[in-house]
Formats: sequence, C-alpha cells, structure tokens
Amino acid sequence: VFHSHLEEKVRPYIDLIDSFRLIGIDKDLALPTIAVIGDQSSGKSSVLEALSGVALPRGSGIVTRCPLELRLRKIKCGVQWQAVISYKGQFTEKFNDPSLVEGYVKKAQNVLAGEGVGICDELITLEIMAPDVCDLTLIDLPGIARIPVKGQPEDIGQQIKNLIRKYIVKDQTINLVVVPCNVDIATTEALKMAEEVDPEGKRTLAILTKPDLIDKGTEKNILDIVRNQVIPLSKGYIIVKCRGQKQINEKISLTEATRLEREFFRCHEYFSCLWNEEKATVQCLATKLTHDLVDHIKKSLPLISEEIKKKLWSLRKELSQCESGPPLDPQKRKLFFIDTLTKFNDKINCLASGDMVNDDN
Ligand code: GDP
Ligand code: NA
Ligand code: MG
Repeated sequence: VFHSHLEEKVRPYIDLIDSFRLIGIDKDLALPTIAVIGDQSSGKSSVLEALSGVALPRGSGIVTRCPLELRLRKIKCGVQWQAVISYKGQFTEKFNDPSLVEGYVKKAQNVLAGEGVGICDELITLEIMAPDVCDLTLIDLPGIARIPVKGQPEDIGQQIKNLIRKYIVKDQTINLVVVPCNVDIATTEALKMAEEVDPEGKRTLAILTKPDLIDKGTEKNILDIVRNQVIPLSKGYIIVKCRGQKQINEKISLTEATRLEREFFRCHEYFSCLWNEEKATVQCLATKLTHDLVDHIKKSLPLISEEIKKKLWSLRKELSQCESGPPLDPQKRKLFFIDTLTKFNDKINCLASGDMVNDDN
C-alpha cells in the first residue's frame, strides 16, 4: 500500500538500529522506536493494522496484554509475505500466512501473561517482511483502563500505566498518542502521561481517530486541535479514519478502507483542508512516521557511538588486567605462582565436588 519514495534513504538507518537490537545493545542503550499509547478502544490496534496491513487481535476490553514490538520491513515485490514471532528470548516461530498473526499473538500473550485478563511487561516481537509495508518499528502497548473487570486486580490501571511509562519515558522513543475525536482531548490520560515524560512535546505525536463518529458542531474544535492550536505539540497531529466495527463485519478490506478514508477526507465539509495540508489519512501518518524515525535515529547516532566507545574503553581496561602475566620481581613471582596454583586447585576441588563454577579467571 505504501510505496515510500524515502525507502532508499530510510532503509540503512532502520537496518542499523535493528542490527543493534539483534546483538542485544538495547539492553544498555535506549534505541529509537515508536510506542503507541492510548485509552482502551481509542483505536490503537486499528491504526497499527492500517500501518502494517496485518490484522492484529482487537476488539472491546483488554485485548493487548503484553507489549508487542511490530517490526515492519519492506521487501522486494514478488517476494512472499513472511513473519517471525519470538518471545522469552528463545521461542521463535516462522509463518507465511497473515491470517495466523492473531492466533500466534494470542498464544504468546497466554504464555507470558497467563490466560484471562492479566497483563505482563515481557515483550513479544513480531517481524513482518512484505512488499507493501513501510519500514517502521512500532510497539503496541496495553490500553489504559480505569475500572478493573472481573478477574483483574484492583490496581490494574496503575499496573498498565507503570508498564506504559517504562516505554514512553525513554528519550529515544517517539510517543504516538491515540485519541478518539469524540472525547475531550484535554482530559485524555494518555496525553497527560506523554506530557509528563516529554513536557515540551518534542517526541510526542498525536493521532486523532474516529472522525466519522464526531459530535455535530464540534468540527471546528477538532480542526483547531489538528492545526496545533489547542494543545501544541512540536510534532503535531494527524487525523485518520480506520475501519469501524460495521465495516469489519461487512468484511471491507484494508485496501478498500484506505480508499474510503481518502474519499472521506477529500469530500469532508470541514476536514478537506486537512487533506490538503497533509494532516489527514494513515498514508500521511506513515510517511511522517518514517521521516520522524529516521530523523530520530540520525540524532541519536552520536550518542550511541559515544556509548559504544565507553563500553569499548571499559572492556579494554578489563582485558588489560587479564593479560598481566607474572611480575618481574622473583619474590613476587613466587607468590604469583602459588596464588595461581591455589586458584587452580580450588577450581579442581569445586569441579570434583560437583559444584558448577562460573568463574572465568
Ligand atoms: P484499541 O483498544 O485502542 O486497540 O482500539 P481498537 O483498534 O480495537 O478499536 C476499537 C473499536 O473502534 C473497534 O471496533 C474499531 O473498529 C473502532 N474504530 C477504530 N477506529 C475507528 C474509526 O476511525 N472510525 C470508526 N467508526 N470506528 C473506529
Ligand atoms: Na480494544
Ligand atoms: Mg488494542
């Protein structure tokens, strides 16, 4: 769906960051990524679905119960759609049928968070390689809930907020805040949380959803919000229309939904100007996100390079200590020799007694 003209420029940066993740550098470094946050049923999964072209578990109530990292990679036309799901750092499964995504994600959530309505902060990684996706890495997070449902602990709201905060607090994360057009944006919990961790709104982008469900008479207000005149964010706002429940029931395809979305904005009495200003549609959001992500990665490269140098320096220091051989002084030499033999002997004793030693001296 998204044939990005940016592809050539974008790909090397995304690949670099993904290869950092692969070798585990992200344990020490916060790498740039996009986190999706919002209230339950605000439309997070619908936005992700429209961006990825992949049907994710969705519906009412708590559906997303673990963080889900969605890595989208554009591959050459004609190459088959492929996906790899992994979690717990070891379990990996490959598949070629997009309709299996939902089942695999649900299964992973059951393994990590148990069956039912509990949550868990372990990450599920889903890598999707397809010719018609944009190069993005996004993290879907559980929706903010206020009132616990049957089977959930009293403090579920707080648990979810703590989990979300863990992701959005990182300086390197672009926070995508999803807010429906038909609620009061100023009271939105997700936007408040994003403001707390990013007071100047430098890495917060807001997505307004459900413009078709807007209360008559509030269009002008929405227009002002999208034009950044109500709650200013330096990355601003994008308005999108995704498939409603009725369209899903009618089995309207994502491609058809994209066309309908375009028509909706182009012909809208109040919002057609937003279409012209490139502040409307999922397509527009995808282009902006890709731009932002690359920008973000570019900015953090010097920092990452600095961190790597520091790591290298401390490893070299450690190494130099390991390399020190016997001292020159004959007296000290003798002590060194005895010491080495004693350690060696201890190790043998340990092994002989069945104790596993985890000592690389
Ligand atoms: P999440 O809980 O934030 O992930 O929300 P979902 O993506 O599951 O969406 C919740 C409900 O809102 C679903 O029934 C969607 O079909 C519906 N929905 C999402 N976006 C739109 C939209 O733009 N217009 C309409 N009418 N419904 C939408
Ligand atoms: Na939902
Ligand atoms: Mg969801």
